[in-house]
Amino acid sequence: MKKLYITSPLYYVNASPHIGHAYTQIACDTINRFFKMAGFQTYFMTGTDEHGEKVEKAAVKAGYEKGREKDFVDSVVPHFKELWKDLNIKFDFFIRTTDPSHEKTVQKILEIMKSKDDIYKGHYNGWFCTPCETFWTELQVKGKPCPDCGRRLEKIEEANYFFRLSKYQDWLISHIKKNEDFIKPDYRKNEILSFLKNPLEDLCISRPKERMAWGVELPFAPNFVTYVWFDALINYISGMGFLDDEKKFKKFWPADFHIIGKDILRHHAIYWPIMLRSAGLAPPKTIFAHGWWTVKGEKMSKSKGNIVDPRTVIKLYGTDALRYFLLREVTFGLDGTFSEEAFILRFNGDLANDLGNLVNRTLTMVDKYFSGKIPEARAGIKNSSLEGLSRGLKDKATHLRKTLESRISSFDFSGALSAIWEVINKANKYIEESKPWECSRNKNTKNLESIIRNLLETLRIISISIYPFMPVSSQKIWQQLGIKDGIEGASLTETEKWNLLKAGHKTCKDKPLFPRIV
Ligand code: MSP
Repeated sequence: MKKLYITSPLYYVNASPHIGHAYTQIACDTINRFFKMAGFQTYFMTGTDEHGEKVEKAAVKAGYEKGREKDFVDSVVPHFKELWKDLNIKFDFFIRTTDPSHEKTVQKILEIMKSKDDIYKGHYNGWFCTPCETFWTELQVKGKPCPDCGRRLEKIEEANYFFRLSKYQDWLISHIKKNEDFIKPDYRKNEILSFLKNPLEDLCISRPKERMAWGVELPFAPNFVTYVWFDALINYISGMGFLDDEKKFKKFWPADFHIIGKDILRHHAIYWPIMLRSAGLAPPKTIFAHGWWTVKGEKMSKSKGNIVDPRTVIKLYGTDALRYFLLREVTFGLDGTFSEEAFILRFNGDLANDLGNLVNRTLTMVDKYFSGKIPEARAGIKNSSLEGLSRGLKDKATHLRKTLESRISSFDFSGALSAIWEVINKANKYIEESKPWECSRNKNTKNLESIIRNLLETLRIISISIYPFMPVSSQKIWQQLGIKDGIEGASLTETEKWNLLKAGHKTCKDKPLFPRIV
């Protein structure tokens, strides 16, 4: 059985998750569900990034004394877990960087690197951005604020430990060039390659405890804790059994997909592969950096008061509509602007009009013409125009799988959804063109049976195909088709088959899936 190991970033627990965090999770969950359905043994890991100065400051602000950061993070983590539940994010493991097994792994990796002389003590004289948890050199900032977030930097001059990034620079450049899927999209790969044209500075990987003690202690220098990024990146192997489950680790490492936002690409595409190389481990296969969601073109921030809370959207319009909108509206990789108007347009157009109506019209006809029972799979009249129309619909629906596979494998969620919508639109058009009401009027039962059957089969295929994106709606359509088993047990291969529904089975028409927003 083929395996797939997919990871999300670990979310900082200093603030509540917003739509941007939800985006990464939804993308990971969709890929995970898709490959599971395609027969892969998948493993999706997510979690929380709990150490470092940013979280420490948040703890103090929330009224926790220094030394009680763990109580603070313990109080925040459930909010993340609850939101992931509300968004239907189905992960295999939730890792916290305060898990003892993770901390042990961080120390083990540090020891390996130290024994290879890849870690040395030096003097740090530069800048630090707490909101980004990033070190910057004088040359990079030239008296300006943080190049990433534009906020004020803190000057740091102190003894610290360093990791020899520079030693591995040539190896990394050649690895990126040789492995065309290593950094995606290609324009992000080019950004990293151009960054690597300049010599890499060694990475400062510690903070003295007297200044900041909320972190994993350096095993060879108890007065220091590990720099939060160095600690957090190691989650991808610590949560995969690097120390305690060799069999699992061998099976799943290297990770297939690290899905991240564009702001944290340098950490993932430069520090992380070099850390792994130093530790004698293989680099991940693909790192995909997606774009950012803004609101009216502006970055979401508490001070601007423009944060879109996924919970509000879910309450108003439902989880599936949010999942659909985020993955359909913007090509994965590019930036997007969130607005309620755009959301409602997609909702009323794609979900209520196209998909919702197709389900509703089809099941209404099953009720009206066949007392709610699935009709026999009969061929219509040979060589008729109906036969041509029906073949067109069947071909389009049963060929969907290949398109989905290639688009989702290249992270083109929007393209995958538009391929599904082509089938939905074709089915709606098929109703108009085949005119089942005329067959009913003319008592042409054979053709009527054939039309309704074809529509139901198309709905069956659509319901499997939308499952990775919209698991709740997919299950609802499945149920309306009268299928008792859960949709998560369905396989993608069933979308290539026709006439799988059992004739005579009762369908269960329900209320509209997506009532129009007025
Ligand atoms: N803790 C680090 C990641 C460590 S991974 C070993 C971190 N955390 S974060 O909470 O700040 O961000 C988590 C993810 O959310 C990142 O991939 C980031 O790009 C994403 N997003 C945060 N805001 C976003 C938007 N406005 N839009 C889209 N994604 C954004 O970075």
